[in-house]
Amino acid sequence: MGKIGVFDSGYGGLTVLQSLVEKLPNYDFIYYGDNLRAPYGTRSFNEVYRYTLKAVQELIAMDCPLIILACNTASAKALRSIQQHYIAKHEPNKRVLGVIRPSAEVIDRYSKTKHIALLATPGTVKSDSYKIELEKFAPHSTLYQYACTNWVSLIENNQWNTPFGEQQITHDLNRLLDQSKQIDTLLLACTHYPILIPLLVKKTPKNIRIIAQGDIVANSLVDYLMRHPQMDQQLSKKATIQYYTSGDPALFNLQAQKIIHMNTQAIQWEDRHLS
Ligand code: DGL
Repeated sequence: MGKIGVFDSGYGGLTVLQSLVEKLPNYDFIYYGDNLRAPYGTRSFNEVYRYTLKAVQELIAMDCPLIILACNTASAKALRSIQQHYIAKHEPNKRVLGVIRPSAEVIDRYSKTKHIALLATPGTVKSDSYKIELEKFAPHSTLYQYACTNWVSLIENNQWNTPFGEQQITHDLNRLLDQSKQIDTLLLACTHYPILIPLLVKKTPKNIRIIAQGDIVANSLVDYLMRHPQMDQQLSKKATIQYYTSGDPALFNLQAQKIIHMNTQAIQWEDRHLS
Protein backbone atom coordinates (compact mmCIF):
# COMPACT_ATOMS: atom_id res chain seq x y z
CA MET A 1 0.00 0.00 0.00
CA GLY A 2 1.21 3.50 -0.81
CA LYS A 3 1.32 6.95 0.70
CA ILE A 4 0.56 10.38 -0.70
CA GLY A 5 3.80 12.26 -1.35
CA VAL A 6 3.72 16.02 -0.84
CA PHE A 7 6.65 18.02 -2.17
CA ASP A 8 7.64 21.66 -1.74
CA SER A 9 10.83 23.67 -1.93
CA GLY A 10 10.63 24.22 1.83
CA TYR A 11 8.03 24.96 4.52
CA GLY A 12 5.38 26.37 2.19
CA GLY A 13 3.83 23.04 1.26
CA LEU A 14 3.02 22.48 4.93
CA THR A 15 0.19 24.99 4.48
CA VAL A 16 -1.24 22.66 1.81
CA LEU A 17 -0.50 19.53 3.84
CA GLN A 18 -2.54 20.95 6.74
CA SER A 19 -5.60 21.19 4.49
CA LEU A 20 -4.95 17.76 2.96
CA VAL A 21 -4.81 16.14 6.39
CA GLU A 22 -7.96 17.96 7.46
CA LYS A 23 -9.93 16.71 4.45
CA LEU A 24 -8.29 13.25 4.26
CA PRO A 25 -7.50 12.48 7.91
CA ASN A 26 -7.13 8.73 7.50
CA TYR A 27 -4.58 8.75 4.70
CA ASP A 28 -0.81 8.37 5.07
CA PHE A 29 1.44 11.19 3.89
CA ILE A 30 5.14 11.73 3.26
CA TYR A 31 6.17 15.40 3.20
CA TYR A 32 9.47 16.40 1.66
CA GLY A 33 10.72 19.99 1.83
CA ASP A 34 13.83 20.78 -0.18
CA ASN A 35 14.90 23.54 2.21
CA LEU A 36 18.54 23.14 1.28
CA ARG A 37 17.85 24.41 -2.23
CA ALA A 38 14.99 26.84 -1.48
CA PRO A 39 14.02 29.28 -2.82
CA TYR A 40 13.11 27.76 -6.19
CA GLY A 41 11.38 30.93 -7.42
CA THR A 42 14.56 32.58 -8.65
CA ARG A 43 16.12 29.40 -10.08
CA SER A 44 16.27 28.46 -13.77
CA PHE A 45 13.76 26.18 -15.45
CA ASN A 46 16.39 23.44 -15.66
CA GLU A 47 17.32 23.57 -12.00
CA VAL A 48 13.70 23.46 -10.81
CA TYR A 49 12.98 20.64 -13.25
CA ARG A 50 16.01 18.59 -12.12
CA TYR A 51 15.36 19.01 -8.39
CA THR A 52 11.64 18.32 -8.72
CA LEU A 53 12.12 15.27 -10.93
CA LYS A 54 14.61 13.83 -8.47
CA ALA A 55 12.22 14.38 -5.57
CA VAL A 56 9.41 12.72 -7.54
CA GLN A 57 11.61 9.70 -8.37
CA GLU A 58 12.64 9.34 -4.76
CA LEU A 59 9.10 9.68 -3.42
CA ILE A 60 8.00 7.00 -5.89
CA ALA A 61 10.80 4.80 -4.57
CA MET A 62 9.35 5.39 -1.09
CA ASP A 63 6.03 3.90 -2.23
CA CYS A 64 4.13 7.03 -3.15
CA PRO A 65 1.92 6.23 -6.15
CA LEU A 66 0.43 9.74 -5.92
CA ILE A 67 2.50 12.89 -5.49
CA ILE A 68 1.28 16.45 -5.02
CA LEU A 69 3.68 19.20 -6.04
CA ALA A 70 2.57 21.59 -3.31
CA CYS A 71 4.74 24.29 -4.84
CA ASN A 72 3.57 26.68 -7.53
CA THR A 73 7.05 27.22 -8.89
CA ALA A 74 7.63 23.48 -9.34
CA SER A 75 4.12 23.09 -10.74
CA ALA A 76 4.76 25.92 -13.20
CA LYS A 77 8.21 24.88 -14.30
CA ALA A 78 8.38 21.11 -13.96
CA LEU A 79 4.97 19.45 -13.70
CA ARG A 80 4.06 19.17 -17.35
CA SER A 81 7.49 17.85 -18.41
CA ILE A 82 7.51 15.34 -15.55
CA GLN A 83 4.02 14.12 -16.48
CA GLN A 84 4.75 13.88 -20.19
CA HIS A 85 8.37 12.79 -20.28
CA TYR A 86 8.88 10.82 -17.10
CA ILE A 87 5.59 9.49 -15.68
CA ALA A 88 4.01 8.61 -19.03
CA LYS A 89 7.12 6.72 -20.16
CA HIS A 90 8.55 5.21 -16.99
CA GLU A 91 5.86 5.13 -14.27
CA PRO A 92 2.50 5.03 -16.08
CA ASN A 93 0.63 3.86 -12.97
CA LYS A 94 1.83 6.75 -10.82
CA ARG A 95 0.35 10.24 -10.75
CA VAL A 96 1.90 13.65 -10.11
CA LEU A 97 -0.52 16.54 -9.60
CA GLY A 98 0.15 20.26 -9.16
CA VAL A 99 -1.52 23.23 -7.50
CA ILE A 100 -1.99 25.68 -10.38
CA ARG A 101 -4.77 24.00 -12.31
CA PRO A 102 -7.05 23.34 -9.31
CA SER A 103 -6.61 26.98 -8.25
CA ALA A 104 -7.29 28.33 -11.75
CA GLU A 105 -10.39 26.15 -12.04
CA VAL A 106 -12.15 27.79 -9.10
CA ILE A 107 -10.61 31.20 -8.41
CA ASP A 108 -13.12 33.26 -10.41
CA ARG A 109 -15.94 31.88 -8.23
CA TYR A 110 -14.60 34.05 -5.42
CA SER A 111 -14.72 37.24 -7.51
CA LYS A 112 -17.68 39.49 -8.31
CA THR A 113 -15.73 41.98 -10.45
CA LYS A 114 -13.74 39.22 -12.22
CA HIS A 115 -10.60 41.28 -11.63
CA ILE A 116 -8.27 38.84 -9.92
CA ALA A 117 -4.84 39.60 -8.51
CA LEU A 118 -2.10 37.14 -7.75
CA LEU A 119 1.12 37.21 -5.76
CA ALA A 120 3.73 34.57 -6.62
CA THR A 121 7.42 33.91 -7.08
CA PRO A 122 9.24 35.35 -10.12
CA GLY A 123 9.37 31.83 -11.61
CA THR A 124 5.61 31.34 -11.41
CA VAL A 125 4.80 34.81 -12.74
CA LYS A 126 7.31 34.54 -15.61
CA SER A 127 5.91 31.16 -16.66
CA ASP A 128 2.48 32.77 -17.21
CA SER A 129 0.96 29.45 -16.12
CA TYR A 130 -1.94 31.14 -14.30
CA LYS A 131 -2.71 33.33 -17.29
CA ILE A 132 -2.76 30.30 -19.57
CA GLU A 133 -4.96 28.26 -17.21
CA LEU A 134 -7.33 31.16 -16.46
CA GLU A 135 -7.87 31.71 -20.16
CA LYS A 136 -9.23 28.15 -20.24
CA PHE A 137 -11.35 28.19 -17.08
CA ALA A 138 -12.34 31.85 -16.67
CA PRO A 139 -11.81 33.58 -20.02
CA HIS A 140 -13.79 36.67 -18.98
CA SER A 141 -11.64 37.47 -15.98
CA THR A 142 -8.70 39.86 -15.89
CA LEU A 143 -5.54 38.77 -14.11
CA TYR A 144 -2.99 41.05 -12.43
CA GLN A 145 0.27 39.42 -11.32
CA TYR A 146 3.17 40.57 -9.18
CA ALA A 147 6.43 38.71 -8.63
CA CYS A 148 7.60 38.87 -5.01
CA THR A 149 11.32 38.47 -5.42
CA ASN A 150 12.32 37.78 -1.84
CA TRP A 151 9.19 36.75 0.10
CA VAL A 152 10.16 33.05 0.22
CA SER A 153 13.60 33.95 1.59
CA LEU A 154 12.03 36.31 4.13
CA ILE A 155 9.81 33.42 5.31
CA GLU A 156 12.44 30.66 5.18
CA ASN A 157 14.85 32.91 7.13
CA ASN A 158 12.19 34.06 9.58
CA GLN A 159 12.60 37.73 8.63
CA TRP A 160 9.11 38.42 7.39
CA ASN A 161 8.00 39.95 10.70
CA THR A 162 10.96 42.31 11.01
CA PRO A 163 10.52 46.00 10.06
CA PHE A 164 12.49 45.31 6.84
CA GLY A 165 10.30 42.31 5.98
CA GLU A 166 7.04 44.16 6.64
CA GLN A 167 8.17 47.12 4.57
CA GLN A 168 9.11 44.89 1.62
CA ILE A 169 5.86 42.92 1.79
CA THR A 170 3.73 46.07 2.03
CA HIS A 171 5.60 47.63 -0.88
CA ASP A 172 5.06 44.60 -3.14
CA LEU A 173 1.40 44.22 -2.14
CA ASN A 174 0.72 47.89 -2.95
CA ARG A 175 2.45 47.59 -6.35
CA LEU A 176 0.06 44.76 -7.18
CA LEU A 177 -3.11 46.43 -5.92
CA ASP A 178 -2.16 49.72 -7.63
CA GLN A 179 -2.71 47.96 -10.96
CA SER A 180 -6.53 48.23 -10.70
CA LYS A 181 -9.19 49.55 -8.34
CA GLN A 182 -11.50 46.75 -9.52
CA ILE A 183 -9.50 43.94 -7.93
CA ASP A 184 -11.68 42.12 -5.37
CA THR A 185 -9.83 38.78 -5.09
CA LEU A 186 -6.21 38.19 -4.17
CA LEU A 187 -4.82 34.69 -4.73
CA LEU A 188 -1.73 33.71 -2.77
CA ALA A 189 -0.15 31.67 -5.57
CA CYS A 190 2.80 30.53 -3.52
CA THR A 191 2.29 28.02 -0.76
CA HIS A 192 4.63 29.92 1.54
CA TYR A 193 2.49 33.06 1.54
CA PRO A 194 -0.42 31.91 3.78
CA ILE A 195 2.09 32.31 6.62
CA LEU A 196 1.82 36.06 5.94
CA ILE A 197 -1.99 36.21 6.08
CA PRO A 198 -2.22 38.15 9.39
CA LEU A 199 0.07 40.85 7.95
CA LEU A 200 -1.59 40.83 4.51
CA VAL A 201 -5.07 41.17 6.03
CA LYS A 202 -3.86 44.28 7.90
CA LYS A 203 -2.46 45.84 4.72
CA THR A 204 -5.20 44.91 2.22
CA PRO A 205 -8.43 46.92 1.73
CA LYS A 206 -11.41 45.17 3.33
CA ASN A 207 -13.28 44.68 0.03
CA ILE A 208 -10.52 42.39 -1.27
CA ARG A 209 -10.75 38.72 -0.37
CA ILE A 210 -7.48 36.91 0.24
CA ILE A 211 -7.49 33.31 -0.94
CA ALA A 212 -4.94 30.65 0.07
CA GLN A 213 -4.64 27.47 -1.95
CA GLY A 214 -4.66 24.78 0.76
CA ASP A 215 -8.41 24.09 0.83
CA ILE A 216 -8.71 24.44 -2.95
CA VAL A 217 -6.01 21.80 -3.52
CA ALA A 218 -7.43 19.52 -0.82
CA ASN A 219 -10.97 19.68 -2.25
CA SER A 220 -9.58 18.95 -5.67
CA LEU A 221 -7.70 15.89 -4.34
CA VAL A 222 -10.81 14.56 -2.57
CA ASP A 223 -12.66 14.88 -5.86
CA TYR A 224 -9.79 13.24 -7.77
CA LEU A 225 -9.76 10.22 -5.42
CA MET A 226 -13.50 9.81 -5.80
CA ARG A 227 -13.13 9.80 -9.58
CA HIS A 228 -10.13 7.44 -9.47
CA PRO A 229 -11.02 4.58 -7.09
CA GLN A 230 -8.19 2.45 -8.50
CA MET A 231 -5.73 5.04 -7.15
CA ASP A 232 -7.61 5.39 -3.88
CA GLN A 233 -7.42 1.62 -3.33
CA GLN A 234 -3.62 1.77 -3.57
CA LEU A 235 -3.37 4.28 -0.70
CA SER A 236 -2.93 3.14 2.88
CA LYS A 237 -5.09 4.73 5.55
CA LYS A 238 -3.38 4.61 8.93
CA ALA A 239 -3.36 8.37 9.54
CA THR A 240 0.43 8.79 9.62
CA ILE A 241 2.61 11.66 8.42
CA GLN A 242 6.38 11.45 7.89
CA TYR A 243 8.34 14.65 7.42
CA TYR A 244 11.65 14.96 5.60
CA THR A 245 13.85 17.94 4.82
CA SER A 246 17.03 18.27 2.80
CA GLY A 247 18.00 21.02 5.27
CA ASP A 248 18.55 20.89 9.01
CA PRO A 249 15.75 18.82 10.65
CA ALA A 250 16.05 20.65 13.99
CA LEU A 251 15.59 23.99 12.25
CA PHE A 252 12.75 22.61 10.15
CA ASN A 253 10.92 21.44 13.29
CA LEU A 254 11.50 24.75 15.03
CA GLN A 255 10.25 26.80 12.09
CA ALA A 256 7.27 24.54 11.39
CA GLN A 257 6.24 24.86 15.03
CA LYS A 258 6.84 28.59 15.22
CA ILE A 259 5.37 29.61 11.88
CA ILE A 260 2.71 27.00 11.15
CA HIS A 261 2.18 25.54 14.64
CA MET A 262 2.87 22.03 13.37
CA ASN A 263 4.74 19.37 15.28
CA THR A 264 6.83 17.80 12.52
CA GLN A 265 9.70 15.69 13.92
CA ALA A 266 11.43 15.82 10.55
CA ILE A 267 14.17 13.46 9.41
CA GLN A 268 17.12 14.41 7.21
CA TRP A 269 16.22 13.40 3.64
CA GLU A 270 19.61 11.71 3.18
CA ASP A 271 18.86 9.52 6.21
CA ARG A 272 15.48 8.37 4.93
CA HIS A 273 16.70 4.81 4.23
CA LEU A 274 17.59 4.45 7.90
CA SER A 275 14.15 5.47 9.15
N1 DGL B 1 6.14 27.38 -2.01
C1 DGL B 1 6.73 27.62 -3.29
C2 DGL B 1 5.68 28.04 -4.30
O1 DGL B 1 4.51 27.77 -4.09
C3 DGL B 1 7.89 28.57 -3.13
C4 DGL B 1 8.86 28.44 -4.22
C5 DGL B 1 10.24 28.93 -3.88
O2 DGL B 1 10.97 28.18 -3.22
O3 DGL B 1 10.61 30.02 -4.31
O4 DGL B 1 6.00 28.60 -5.33
